[in-house]
Amino acid sequence: MKKIYIINGPNLNLLGRRQPEVYGYQTFEDYFKILQKKFENKVELHYFQSNSEGVLLDKIHEIGFSADAIILNAGAYTHTSIAIADGIAGVTTPVIEVHISNVHARESFRHHSHLSRVCKGIIVGFGIKGYDLAIEFFLIG
Ligand code: DQA
Repeated sequence: MKKIYIINGPNLNLLGRRQPEVYGYQTFEDYFKILQKKFENKVELHYFQSNSEGVLLDKIHEIGFSADAIILNAGAYTHTSIAIADGIAGVTTPVIEVHISNVHARESFRHHSHLSRVCKGIIVGFGIKGYDLAIEFFLIG
């Protein structure tokens, strides 16, 4: 069974309450239960969230040589963090970059990602369903 980690970065612990017109009304905890049920018997699914850049990096190092895939929404660190980009480049587990909102339809500072260059692929703008699509990719891939 494939071992897949979903990692969410800063402010994504507030999903469901944070700007719901942009990020939706569902909490990630509720959505994660649905994902676990949908992929039970197919994927060993784990979830981790932190608001801290260093803690996210420690997690990527910890699992990045053994997990089959990482699905990462690094939140605003996407646009600022060379450290997280270097961390992704330094591990062997493939990483998919996910954004709930269509960052290209938003402020220009969200248009650039330091992470895309070192990620296997990017899923942007499909709402919270983007995580589901990323898991599907690893199941067929
Ligand atoms: C986000 C987009 C980022 O620009 C923002 O800072 C977030 C969430 C998204 O999922 O749409 O925190 O990554």
